[in-house]
Amino acid sequence: MNIAVFSSHDGSDLQALIDGCKDGKIDGKVCVVISNNSDAFSLERARKENIDNYHISSSVHHDANDLDLKILEILENHNIDIIFLAGYLKKIGIPILQKYNNSIFNIHPALLPKFGGKDMYGMNVHKAVIKAKELVSGVTIHRVNEEYDSGDIVAQTQIDVIENDTPETLSVKILDCEHTFLVEVVNDIVSGRIKLGK
Ligand code: GRF
Repeated sequence: MNIAVFSSHDGSDLQALIDGCKDGKIDGKVCVVISNNSDAFSLERARKENIDNYHISSSVHHDANDLDLKILEILENHNIDIIFLAGYLKKIGIPILQKYNNSIFNIHPALLPKFGGKDMYGMNVHKAVIKAKELVSGVTIHRVNEEYDSGDIVAQTQIDVIENDTPETLSVKILDCEHTFLVEVVNDIVSGRIKLGK
């Protein structure tokens, strides 16, 4: 299976996916990386691994439709089966959602449907979890639709929030957990245990 990864920042989840494919834990290949952020370290990770990578953003493609068409062209050129959003902070356009219906997934660093939606990303999520005095948090992988964090949940794993946890300690634990969980779940997708929409 050919996987496209969209990433806006560091790309540690991207790296976990690349390594999972290289180690044979995922029967697939990361064929292309797309970022809306030209400074994203994820683009550098892709370059180091000789993976085609593209900076596609509204600063270059002013028209939203042009931007979606450019992304679609790249996905089609790489015969992409699955799109994985790993720390990608932009909404996915309708033409892409229609073409890759139910085959686009996102990873979120909390137990959706709690602590999701607009502005619920990065440390904002962990701050909200600690503020709400939750006893558990975790990782959610869900299908992507036109709203933030609201598509069907395909997998979740929990992590205890302990008394001394801060947003920072929780973020480290969760990111670490993501790197293992992501590989397991993407392999479930690739191997058909979690169905694609096509
Ligand atoms: C993770 O917390 C993930 O859930 C998210 O962005 C973070 C991954 O960042 N939505 P990165 O892969 O290290 O850039």
